[in-house]
Amino acid sequence: MTEVPRKPITVPDILARKREGVPVVMVTSYDATMTRLIDACDVDIVLVGDSLGMVVQGHAHTLEVELDDVVYHARCVRRALRHAHLCADMPFMSYQVSVEQALTNAGQLIRKGGAASVKIEGGESVAPAIAKIVAAGIPVMGHLGLTPQSVHAFGGFKVQARDEAAADKLRREAKLLEQIGCFALVLEGIPATLAREVSQSLSIPTIGIGAGVGCDGQVLVIHDLLGLDDGFQPKFVKRFAELAAPIRSAVSDYAREVRAREFPGVEHSFGPGRSAAPAPAPAPGVLPTENEEPPAEPRRRAGYGPG
Ligand code: KIV
Repeated sequence: MTEVPRKPITVPDILARKREGVPVVMVTSYDATMTRLIDACDVDIVLVGDSLGMVVQGHAHTLEVELDDVVYHARCVRRALRHAHLCADMPFMSYQVSVEQALTNAGQLIRKGGAASVKIEGGESVAPAIAKIVAAGIPVMGHLGLTPQSVHAFGGFKVQARDEAAADKLRREAKLLEQIGCFALVLEGIPATLAREVSQSLSIPTIGIGAGVGCDGQVLVIHDLLGLDDGFQPKFVKRFAELAAPIRSAVSDYAREVRAREFPGVEHSFGPGRSAAPAPAPAPGVLPTENEEPPAEPRRRAGYGPG
């Protein structure tokens, strides 16, 4: 059976989800293999989050992530993505210094990273930068509440907007982000009642993480969703799989079989007359350049060519 090609999801499609009351499904991804798996599922938005600082680079927070890191991972994801909308995070200090710096860096995520939108943490203080980026035709997703780039100001990863003054500020900033043209808004780590109220007051979709079911969509970090770190179980995460144990078991089996000389078996070995020649390199000009459209089919790893 031939697979019916699915159309790429656009910003107007995401706004339509809100009008139609259909929840938006967002998940993070950082590499091509995972993205190919995710994109075969019915996911609306793939976010190259600066959470890569923690789950890929091994830092305790997101503050060390550079713009070039996000560009690199966005390019990896872009090559494998056919359906979902690609949003890339603007990392710490890539948009706070000046409006010009913010616009230049947002442009890099689009031009070099292949993203279709960018995400920016913060409200009033970053509104001029967001307005400038939106005016340049780059869709912006806002992010309020427990904004991880402010971890030091918050004194840790703590639920935000629990008192009335902070809740009021968040309500005002959500409205402001809608007014200046954000197409969606992440609400992270805030009381569920406040998230529901804010979601109902906006015409753009809210996408929650640790913000309850009253948001217009949800996002999870893919490593958390898959249970890749079984030592990490915050309240807001539901593990939809427990993959840490099977991965450890597979790698341990591999190590044991190598030491016992059980792997590789004859079925993994070549007889005489066949060589392990690598597959021919693609013709010059076949690999996409920065600005080129990705090929219609995701590129797969080549095996060995015939001997
Ligand atoms: O960096 C990230 O992955 C995020 C999401 C969790 C919203 O900002």
